[in-house]
Amino acid sequence: MSELLPVRVLVNDEWYEDDLSPSRTLADYLRDDLDLTGTHVGCEHGTCGACTVLVDGEPVRSCLMLAVQTDGCAVTTVEGVSPAGELSAVQRAFNENHAMQCGFCTPGFVVSLTALARQEPRASEEQLVATLDGHLCRCTGYQNILKAGRQILSGEGDKE
Ligand code: FES
Ligand code: FES
Repeated sequence: MSELLPVRVLVNDEWYEDDLSPSRTLADYLRDDLDLTGTHVGCEHGTCGACTVLVDGEPVRSCLMLAVQTDGCAVTTVEGVSPAGELSAVQRAFNENHAMQCGFCTPGFVVSLTALARQEPRASEEQLVATLDGHLCRCTGYQNILKAGRQILSGEGDKE
């Protein structure tokens, strides 16, 4: 068994301190240790985007990142993109545009579009498509996800 390393990480505005195996992925840490199962794991090799979370505000694939790499960082999962009990503007846009079917891919899309809306509130169609391009959805055909993205970036509603 490998030596455990101490990690202190801010997840959804709450500090956690744990001793973790250096090989533990951030996705496994979030889901299995912190019970934040909104982060979904699909491909486990960086292709599908379902496991996307924010680390210091930047979208990352949590299946490819080691939990120990987040020591001292701020992590936001899909559970943390909105105030408790409320939907964020991104989540509302998904709901209003019927941008999900089975919902497996949805947390990843929501997290990446949250980052885009925060960083580029007037992002172009090209930037929107480039953001969505990093995510796979087997159900929707992407059109309603695109509509949700356009609504988010159109200035309708708040931007978080
Ligand atoms: S599970 Fe991480 S990119 Fe697919
Ligand atoms: S809604 Fe089912 S995979 Fe996207």
